[in-house]
Amino acid sequence: MNNLLEKYILDHIDEESEILKQLDRDAHVNLLRPRMLSGHLQGKILKMFCRLLQPKFILEIGTYTGYSALCLAEGAADDAEIHTIEINDELEDFIKKHLYKSKLKDKIHLHIGDAAQIIPDINCMFDMVFIDANKRHYIEYYNMIFDKVRQGGLIIADNTLWDGKVLETPHHTDKQTLGILEFNDMLVKDNRVEKVILPIRDGLTLIWKK
Ligand SMILES: C[S@@+](CC[C@H](N)C(=O)[O-])C[C@H]1O[C@@H](n2cnc3c(N)ncnc32)[C@H](O)[C@@H]1O
Repeated sequence: MNNLLEKYILDHIDEESEILKQLDRDAHVNLLRPRMLSGHLQGKILKMFCRLLQPKFILEIGTYTGYSALCLAEGAADDAEIHTIEINDELEDFIKKHLYKSKLKDKIHLHIGDAAQIIPDINCMFDMVFIDANKRHYIEYYNMIFDKVRQGGLIIADNTLWDGKVLETPHHTDKQTLGILEFNDMLVKDNRVEKVILPIRDGLTLIWKK
């Protein structure tokens, strides 16, 4: 999407909440790779999915700053539980600083550690899962959570167009690009789900469990 069109969209959708604006500013000043956070447009889309589907149990793999977790919390019902997992413990203070300022904090359960270790210990059937961690391991995350998603639940995978690198030939051979390519090729053959890729931002795949 070109920058002017994105600006037009952002000017014609709901504004970011004050807490998300502050978090975004803080991330751009103080963190490496602030582009990793979902941002205004994708954040509103995540919020809208929660408004529409009213998931009670949500799992996010890859918290980073907590931006997307807060967006999910903004859209989810008051009694929803959002479990979000972040492997980088250096982010814990940053995440908590913004989370604790929010009146939505009680909905969000932050787990610091490797998703592979933590997911088996979360005893929930999820209505929605947002996969947004290490691109090398998307298939592993998907396999790990699949039986923990209820029938009719939604899995959302971010960055599935990987900045257009999925199209470039010869393909990039870095492990992240290969991880995304393998994930997309696996998913298209998985008849247990219906799926569509939204060409928003870096590609957002919606996966509905039959
Ligand atoms: C793209 S960022 C997440 C952005 C966030 N979901 C948002 O939209 O604002 C990916 C995050 O996943 C984390 N991560 C990578 N591997 C992980 C793992 N195995 N378990 C948990 N988190 C992981 C990284 O440290 C990074 O902070």
